[in-house]
Amino acid sequence: MFLPSFSLEGKTAAVTGAGKGIGRAIAIGFAEAGADVALIARTVQDLEEVKKIIEKDIGRTAYVLQADVTNRMELAAALHQIKEQTGRIDTLVNNAGMNIRTRALEVREEEWDQIMNTNLKSAFFASQEAGKIMKETGGTIINIASVAGHTALPTGAVYGSSKAALMHITRILAYEWGAYDIRVNALGPWYFETPLTEKLLEDKEYVDKLLAVTPLNRIGRLPELVGPAVFLASEASRYVTGQTLMVDGGMTIHGF
Ligand SMILES: NC(=O)c1ccc[n+]([C@@H]2O[C@H](COP(=O)([O-])OP(=O)(O)OC[C@H]3O[C@@H](n4cnc5c(N)ncnc54)[C@H](OP(=O)(O)O)[C@@H]3O)[C@@H](O)[C@H]2O)c1
Repeated sequence: MFLPSFSLEGKTAAVTGAGKGIGRAIAIGFAEAGADVALIARTVQDLEEVKKIIEKDIGRTAYVLQADVTNRMELAAALHQIKEQTGRIDTLVNNAGMNIRTRALEVREEEWDQIMNTNLKSAFFASQEAGKIMKETGGTIINIASVAGHTALPTGAVYGSSKAALMHITRILAYEWGAYDIRVNALGPWYFETPLTEKLLEDKEYVDKLLAVTPLNRIGRLPELVGPAVFLASEASRYVTGQTLMVDGGMTIHGF
């Protein structure tokens, strides 16, 4: 028998930003793969809808935790509540993120702080809290980075830097926590249609430009991120750590 298990049966996963877009898709996909899922975001109504899908349609348990990931105390309290309620956290997905597209000459300090705090600082401190719990049991952490952290994109000075740093923190935590059997990896999506990108993707000229540099010649579909996320959370990726798996239709493989 050589095929390892992609199942998440018996595992508990926590997903930040689970109310919309990529986080919602990963949370539901994890439940389909067998996990119980703790859903974290600010908008409880979104999370309750995801909980309903997970519990009524899929038959797994979901936990709704309202927290602003930029508030360290709220974030730590949410992660500890999951541990108290379920006894474990096997996987943490640091997905909550935001972007303000601004040319570097116009970036304001408040924008810098907001983007860095949401995309980078929150992921580090959520990982630190989860790391304290996983230290005893092992676990997996998945950071949702971006092509923007790998390739220079205009108006991405702050967003791209936050994602590049997230990819590097992925390597450092993987190195430090390998001894505890905690694997830390990242996903690097190119464009997927979500509330974050829907306005941009209504602009046909802009989309044509994106497709011109995307070998698979289309925007990503959310289930195409769920497979890689399940892989990184499961036994199938047992010997993979510190990596960023680009899920980008080939965008980052060429030189123009
Ligand atoms: N969509 C893409 O094409 C794309 C490409 C590359 C990378 N990414 C990355 O993928 C991740 C998800 O993006 P998305 O497109 O799914 O975004 P989205 O549709 O805007 O959803 C973001 C989710 O994060 C939550 N969130 C945002 N700020 C938060 C905060 N301070 N505290 C708690 N929750 C917060 C939001 O819920 P509340 O507002 O209710 O809190 C929402 O559930 C982000 O890290 C993004 O940078 C996206």
